[in-house]
Amino acid sequence: QSCNQGEADKLNVHIVPHTHDDVGWLKTVDQYYYGANSSIAWAGVQYILDTVVQQLSVDPTRRFIYVEVAFFSRWWREQNTEVQQEVKRLVQEGRLEFILGGWSMNDEAATHYNAIIDQMTLGLRFLNDTFGPCARPRVAWQIDPFGHSREQASLFAQMGFDGLFFGRLDYQDKETREMKLKMEEIWRGSQSLHHPEADLFTGLNENGYNPPAGFCFDAYCKDDPIMDDPTLEDNNVKQKVDDFISAAHKQAKHFRTNHIMMTMGSDFQYSNAKAWFKNLDKLMKYVNSAVRYKNCFFLWSVKSDDFFPYADAPHQFWTGYFTSRPGLKGYVRESNKYLQVCNQLETVAHLRSGMKSNLRTSKSNVLRAAMGVAQHHDAVSGTSKQHVANDYAKRLYIGNHRVAFKTFYNLVKNCLFLQGGRHCKDVISSVITEGSSNLTFCDYMNITLCDFTQNSNRFTAVVYNPLARAVSKYIRIPVDCTPSYIFVVIELVTGARLTTQLVPVSEATESVRRNRGNANCELVFLAKLPALGYNSFSIEKYKSSATNKRLFTPKGKVVNPSDDITISNEFYSVNFNRNSGLMDSIVNIESGIKIPVHQDMLWYNGSMGNNASKQQSGAYIFRPNSSTPFHCSNDGKVKLSVLTGSNPLVQEVYQKFSDWAYQVVRLYKGIKHIEVEWTVGPIPVKDQWGKEVISRYETNIDSNGYFYTDANGREVLERKKNYRPTWKLNQTEPVAGNYYPVNSRIYIRDAHVQLTVLTDRSQGGSSLSSGALELMVHRRLLGEDSKGVAEPLNETGQFGDGLITRGKHWLLLDTVTSSAKQHRLLGEEAFMSPLVPHQADSWFNLDLALFFLIQSFIVNPLPPNIHLLTLATTNSGELLVRLEHQFAKHDDDVLSQPVTVSLKGLIKNFEVKIVDELLLGGNALKNTINRLQW
Ligand SMILES: *[C@@H]1O[C@H](CO)[C@@H](O)[C@H](O)[C@H]1NC(C)=O
Ligand SMILES: *[C@@H]1O[C@H](CO)[C@@H](O)[C@H](O)[C@H]1NC(C)=O
Ligand SMILES: *[C@@H]1O[C@H](CO)[C@@H](O)[C@H](O)[C@H]1NC(C)=O
Ligand SMILES: *[C@@H]1O[C@H](CO)[C@@H](O)[C@H](O)[C@H]1NC(C)=O
Ligand SMILES: *[C@@H]1O[C@H](CO)[C@@H](O)[C@H](O)[C@H]1NC(C)=O
Ligand SMILES: *[C@@H]1O[C@H](CO)[C@@H](O)[C@H](O)[C@H]1NC(C)=O
Ligand SMILES: [Zn+2]
Repeated sequence: QSCNQGEADKLNVHIVPHTHDDVGWLKTVDQYYYGANSSIAWAGVQYILDTVVQQLSVDPTRRFIYVEVAFFSRWWREQNTEVQQEVKRLVQEGRLEFILGGWSMNDEAATHYNAIIDQMTLGLRFLNDTFGPCARPRVAWQIDPFGHSREQASLFAQMGFDGLFFGRLDYQDKETREMKLKMEEIWRGSQSLHHPEADLFTGLNENGYNPPAGFCFDAYCKDDPIMDDPTLEDNNVKQKVDDFISAAHKQAKHFRTNHIMMTMGSDFQYSNAKAWFKNLDKLMKYVNSAVRYKNCFFLWSVKSDDFFPYADAPHQFWTGYFTSRPGLKGYVRESNKYLQVCNQLETVAHLRSGMKSNLRTSKSNVLRAAMGVAQHHDAVSGTSKQHVANDYAKRLYIGNHRVAFKTFYNLVKNCLFLQGGRHCKDVISSVITEGSSNLTFCDYMNITLCDFTQNSNRFTAVVYNPLARAVSKYIRIPVDCTPSYIFVVIELVTGARLTTQLVPVSEATESVRRNRGNANCELVFLAKLPALGYNSFSIEKYKSSATNKRLFTPKGKVVNPSDDITISNEFYSVNFNRNSGLMDSIVNIESGIKIPVHQDMLWYNGSMGNNASKQQSGAYIFRPNSSTPFHCSNDGKVKLSVLTGSNPLVQEVYQKFSDWAYQVVRLYKGIKHIEVEWTVGPIPVKDQWGKEVISRYETNIDSNGYFYTDANGREVLERKKNYRPTWKLNQTEPVAGNYYPVNSRIYIRDAHVQLTVLTDRSQGGSSLSSGALELMVHRRLLGEDSKGVAEPLNETGQFGDGLITRGKHWLLLDTVTSSAKQHRLLGEEAFMSPLVPHQADSWFNLDLALFFLIQSFIVNPLPPNIHLLTLATTNSGELLVRLEHQFAKHDDDVLSQPVTVSLKGLIKNFEVKIVDELLLGGNALKNTINRLQW
């Protein structure tokens, strides 16, 4: 209501005072808040909020928008009641307006939708809890992220936003749009939802998010203030007014209506808000001659692709950050799982305890906030300085260890298993204070490092499945398998002894592990897990003797083959060429598809600038020096070895490309995909060549330049080499200009066959020739891309010689029609894989009913096309539930169909009394919101 509506026949220039406050970048989030480490950048968010509120208070005509709740909520806590009352008044009167309202302004290329929704929810609910519905942000504001994803538009629409504004888009795209008056459009965010459910008005800012040239009035800007004393020699009012009017007209030429916006502010500006406001007041006073203007257009065009990749000039593609800091990217994805598990268990425990209010422990908010911060566009994107990246990881670590793991321990052990809920209340308060834990969570299971399992003779693994459907998962546990031992794994609920297999620790693992730990085997078994629940396994190690010889656990032996190698299970057979050492072909046994598949690990040399452009490869920018990558193996030959023996559960092939690049290819019994585990690092740079390492698959699939990549782990977009759907591309970088974000999957296909690769973290990927696809897994660079971070992306890792990263790709080769049902379900299992903590001996008193040994918290497992995205408890003690149809409209004939599920008794032993449907961000009732119709 307090918004100036403007005048119909004039050009209306909306002056929008704002500040862009990165939740960590050159400095950590704490350093930015207080203004510490000021030699790097002078920026202190506390002063911004202090002085803005003061300046708004003194003049009711002034306005300000604020975005990042991670900062605002801190500041709010530090204010006295008087200031808080004043701020409430400013919000009620529309003088201080929150827009976006996320915990941070999240990155769009490397984020997963689960984490985006959570970080938005955290911020939006804070605003509603603090200021009520009047403060609900209507406009999403993504002014700085380096490219924009279609899924983000869909999520914003479902969160009830009326529109989105952003600043960065491809320079050619922007030119075209300015010419065609398409700086504002309707963005259709989903191919599956009915219009206009995922439609979002989208405005592109004329000047990124900066003021027009000459109008930066911040205390740290160099532009002249308005000097308006008519008696003075330096009076510049006429000049300023003329310049402003000409800037306004220039901008108006690119827009369809007589309303344009000027973003008056920039990074960390307004720390002395008076400088800005005083000059804007004068500017508005003197520019009173708004000019007649005619509206010419009434219709908006519709866009249905996305804004990737982003280039701000020729040769400057911001496609490196799709992969930058792969370790951090992996940890963010993993931490998302811990947060969901923590939410689920808290909810079940709270329900059982019968507690009605104030349930949210401040502790689990530690992880929630750490995840919110980690989604920021310089965090998971990998574009911060090293000390800031360390700070992001540390926050996640603290969240995971102090919260998720302890919650798991205390809630599961004391609350869920033993007392059937009677003592949950006490347990919850002990979680809130300082929980202690006997439960071991090993952080480095990925490198077969866990002192506890390696040294124990008897322990229990409690395997928790966060999915709302039952799954069977292979578990791998680091053990000491010195020949005289045998292992027995018992599923406690049935007493059944499970089939096991010992896999010797690989050379790659030993080299990553260095001097830490010395487990020499992984003990493998298949855990059958109930929907949303756990199953417990006892693992015992015996000295072998004549009497228990029959309990012998098969242990494979790694040998160098003298011939080509084939490994196979019920579904696939994978062939390796002994001479090249590379994967050669894949057969899908059921469908009879057999095609050549050559997979190799290669690296591009990061450019240090050349004649065409000075642009170097760096944290943001990917710019290879040449389109032809080098082999990771020295002589183009890969050292191949294979696990031999009876191998009842898993078959493995090992590839050593070099001392710093390894792979394991695995086929598990009964599992319908091929697992490829890559280990890369320390990437050598002594030769002074920065390296960007890729995994490339070459097949005979006739993909003809088309490939497909997901957006934030959800819907999939079609890509075409050297092509953009909405303008005629002038391609300046044949490799980097064809890279797209891959958050969970990439595929190529022809009329019949589809090769899909799923990832365990966000990476950049492309298809540069027909039948090929590639993913960039790691990068280490010596140059600097001049986009602000001012440090080479040269992660040295904990041993100082270069970061080693290990991750997984999962391959599916199948017919086009039967691929989606596999990659959708596998994608779900990948980001919500089971949690496997261990406990000395057995937790369980044998008198306990078997009932406690395996337990599902859900009454009816959900059908496979429905994902339980959120099961959490809010501050006010309500349950927040999100159910998601995880198949896109044309994915699968059967599974893409709409499904009806009952919320009744979703969680065991509890009755649903009232259900309210909220916006996706959980901050308002859906039926109270009317989005603007366009
Ligand atoms: C301040 O920034 C520098 C440069 O990035 C960094 O090395 C240093 O660790 C920072 N200081 C603190 C206290 O984080
Ligand atoms: C470990 O468990 C034992 C018995 O269950 C308990 O008495 C002890 O307090 C626990 N220790 C810690 C550090 O939690
Ligand atoms: C494509 O871009 C390059 C680099 O800016 C420029 O030199 C060239 O003229 C452009 N080509 C066309 C056809 O516009
Ligand atoms: C990269 O890191 C290594 C340490 O592993 C260091 O020796 C080298 O000087 C660094 N190079 C640059 C350009 O930062
Ligand atoms: C193993 O996992 C931990 C925890 O997620 C992570 O910090 C580490 O980087 C991973 N190690 C490798 C080699 O990827
Ligand atoms: C938003 O805040 C209002 C007023 O404080 C409250 O009544 C309402 O329940 C909140 N909405 C949600 C979805 O929490
Ligand atoms: Zn930013």
